[in-house]
Amino acid sequence: DWKMDSFAEAEIQRIRETVGDGKVLLALSGGVDSSVAATLMAKAIGKQLTCVFVDHGLLRKDEGDEVEAVFGPKGKYDLNFIRVNAGPEYFEKLKGVEEPEQKRKIIGEQFIRIFEREAKKIGAVDFLCQGTIYADVVESGLGKGAVIKSHHNVGGLPKNIEFRAIIEPLRNLFKDEVRKVGLELGLPEALVYRQPFPGPGLGVRIIGEVTPEKVKIVQEADSIYREEIKKAGLARELSQYFAALTNLRSVGVMGDFRTYDYAVALRAVKTDDFMTAECAEIPFAVLQTVMNRIVNEVKGVNRVFYDLTSKPPGTIELE
Ligand code: XMP
Repeated sequence: DWKMDSFAEAEIQRIRETVGDGKVLLALSGGVDSSVAATLMAKAIGKQLTCVFVDHGLLRKDEGDEVEAVFGPKGKYDLNFIRVNAGPEYFEKLKGVEEPEQKRKIIGEQFIRIFEREAKKIGAVDFLCQGTIYADVVESGLGKGAVIKSHHNVGGLPKNIEFRAIIEPLRNLFKDEVRKVGLELGLPEALVYRQPFPGPGLGVRIIGEVTPEKVKIVQEADSIYREEIKKAGLARELSQYFAALTNLRSVGVMGDFRTYDYAVALRAVKTDDFMTAECAEIPFAVLQTVMNRIVNEVKGVNRVFYDLTSKPPGTIELE
């Protein structure tokens, strides 16, 4: 596609001119936008770019390692990559916290704190790069559109990092254009077509207090669900699908024993804009397979629900 080929080339040239021999800092989440932004920057300025990947311990199963495999020292891009394994710090802060907004606030603030701490170690930076895309510009009210929702991808802008300017190389692109650029720059398809994942991660897919044990349960259940959805060939037609952990425990039976374990909720939605959404119709046989695998393979779960709720009145995430 002529337009996109020329976009990447022209943008790389523009980045070089803007940055000169300056240093650039980027918060990499592993999502499509920050990954494509990181790749563009890496192609343009190589080691002048430092990516900080804060693994908050609330990612999907193996996701942290997948991000590291692409952008870390064993990956194919030439950049500085810093992974912060911050799970324990987050769990400490989240101990005993049950209220959804409070959880979001803590996760967002913690991110800023850790990002600033890492930035300080790196020393003076000239530019902060962000993976803002056109939809973000519109949604945050900076474009012509009305304010639809405040954006909290990375919990706001860090205040204690000094830099000359912000660089947003994807600012004029639609999501499908961002994906095209990603593929063109050699990012793996699994990453380019990754479904949306909220900044606060599994923190908003665990109702009530977040603990390492609950995270482990939801990671395992979600991994099984995603595997079966993929196997059934449904992945591309669903906008978002995941397992969440209800805060509900109930009585069950396992062999000769009574159990008192958690219930997992499965969610799958179709939507065009994520402002409204419909529950997706997953074949019953697929749901049964997922249920059987989860109750047999995931310790601590004895019940599986399928969430039929549309948005509104439900939201896509559970918190
Ligand atoms: P809800 O749950 O509000 O989600 O229906 C709508 C879409 O937004 C995603 N989402 C978030 N994304 N930070 C994000 O970057 C967040 O705090 C956040 N909360 C929800 C959600 O996954 C869905 O795609």
